[in-house]
Amino acid sequence: MKVGVFDSGIGGLTVVKSLLEHQLFEEIIYFGDTARVPYGTKDKNTIIRYAIEAIEFFKNFELDMIIVACNTVSAYALDEMNESASCPVIGVVEAGVLATANSVKDKNANILIIGTNATINSKAYEDALQLQNFSNLHAKATPLLVPLVEEEILSGDILNATLKHYFAELKKPQALILGCTHFPLLTKELQEYFGKETQLIHSGDAIVEYLQNKFDFYKQYKNPRLKFFASENPEALRSIAKKWLDV
Ligand code: DGL
Repeated sequence: MKVGVFDSGIGGLTVVKSLLEHQLFEEIIYFGDTARVPYGTKDKNTIIRYAIEAIEFFKNFELDMIIVACNTVSAYALDEMNESASCPVIGVVEAGVLATANSVKDKNANILIIGTNATINSKAYEDALQLQNFSNLHAKATPLLVPLVEEEILSGDILNATLKHYFAELKKPQALILGCTHFPLLTKELQEYFGKETQLIHSGDAIVEYLQNKFDFYKQYKNPRLKFFASENPEALRSIAKKWLDV
């Protein structure tokens, strides 16, 4: 099994980490559009155009599937990507919603979705959660958390002030959907901020659960081949991958 993983930049490595932990693929080809990141501030047409260009890039490889690690792209461009690609294209929004439905049994549970401005404006998570009969939904764009993670500010005063800025007025949710590639790197702090009762939904783990339910993975690959590509400065992406993924 050979998979392409697409993200607007480096954040999608959090999804690669989950794929590696579960040893699902023989080869992982990662493409981060680092020259044009962030996507979370862009409009729908631009996001779709960039996403289709990524499909063109992946046509250089014979892939069994493409995983869209980027929540923003998953929210806007999945249908268009599937139309352009010759293999299935799977996004993190559907996977995250199904993971939520599998683990949160109370349809009245207070669910908070956080993500980029584009993801939250799309209402993609809310629409899909409503189809699963969840009714107590709240969404909050938390774009400042993206540069904080990129600056490796993963704890301390600046992060705490940012969490307060975004969440002080909100009720504690029963489930928190980490609707952005970068947010799993803040798992510890978010869990501490909201408390143990809040269940965090992580895109990478959700994708693994989704793939395992939908496809027959009969083999595990201990040492998958990894290839990292970026539209700008691929060396920087490779060195972050080394650090985050320990590869
Ligand atoms: N990868 C994006 C996401 O998950 C975050 C970074 C960006 O804005 O491009 O929505």
